[in-house]
Amino acid sequence: MMNEFKETVRKVTEVYGPSGRETKAGQLLTDMIRPYVDEIKFDALGNAVGIRKGTSGKKVMLSAHMDQIGLIVLDIDDKGFLRFAPVGGISPEMTVGRDVVFQNGTRGVVCREQKNVTPPAALTQMFIDIGCSSREEAEAHVAMGDICVYAAHFVDMGSRVACCALDDRICCAILVEAMKKIRSPHDIYCVFTSQEEVGCRGAQAAAYWIDPDFGINLDVTASADTPECNPMPMKLGEGPTIKYKDRSAVITKPVIEFMHRVADKHGIKVQNEVLPYGGTDASAVQTTRGGKPACCVSVATRYIHSPIETADLNDCLGAVDFVCAMAEEAELPLE
Ligand code: CO
Ligand code: ZN
Repeated sequence: MMNEFKETVRKVTEVYGPSGRETKAGQLLTDMIRPYVDEIKFDALGNAVGIRKGTSGKKVMLSAHMDQIGLIVLDIDDKGFLRFAPVGGISPEMTVGRDVVFQNGTRGVVCREQKNVTPPAALTQMFIDIGCSSREEAEAHVAMGDICVYAAHFVDMGSRVACCALDDRICCAILVEAMKKIRSPHDIYCVFTSQEEVGCRGAQAAAYWIDPDFGINLDVTASADTPECNPMPMKLGEGPTIKYKDRSAVITKPVIEFMHRVADKHGIKVQNEVLPYGGTDASAVQTTRGGKPACCVSVATRYIHSPIETADLNDCLGAVDFVCAMAEEAELPLE
């Protein structure tokens, strides 16, 4: 079970898919859920959606974002070095010295200027070296506007794994696993959303056209169990979280109560989450149309937005059970 799931996580973290360029990721993920849905749809904003019909007449929207953070090429200089800007929350400190990969497979390394730079260097003081000696040579491989991502190096530490893009592909893997198991009376919309890292944009569009009765979003959240970190309740290995608040959403009382009720009923070990920063697609579902009940289940993750994001697969398997249990409840939380 654990190893099979780990293999899914590896596959879905290795696929290319920065914000706005999610086609490959969407293809891979929908291929994985194809046997478990009646219909697959892609919308104009890049959301990839699997739909399974139920009998209750209600719709539950499950979502996890499939986009990852990246670097977009601004300029190519005479010597073939690329200057770039961030797509999403790129940490300068975590970026210098890393290797990157473009959609067409072009590889590069991120380095910083030597003069007048006191580390940590700003992103504007860095460049990507793709192994070329002139602009012309570089232009044969990349163009202004191309987006690269951290190259995926999957680190298997047993029940814990590290890679780039665990945010939020690890939750896409949870949804794949959940789709195999859910037996729900409701229509299930399994949405791999686009453009979360640039402001929950895919989820806004998807929530509007799906018009769900309840939204269950999955994302990573910070963990406070590493040396000298800021105090927060979340830790690796303590189970999936019940989010109370982040900077984009305050989960409403009836929804929080529903989550605790379902977790208790099924004996699922959960932990509480308050994230003082960050945002998730739950906010997009909550605020669509006339307002919707929506929750967020998170996976505590270390070093978020780095190439070595680290999570515990036991928390993910707990999240699979939790998502299934909530989606299977006949009585959804109504406000
Ligand atoms: Co993120
Ligand atoms: Zn995320």
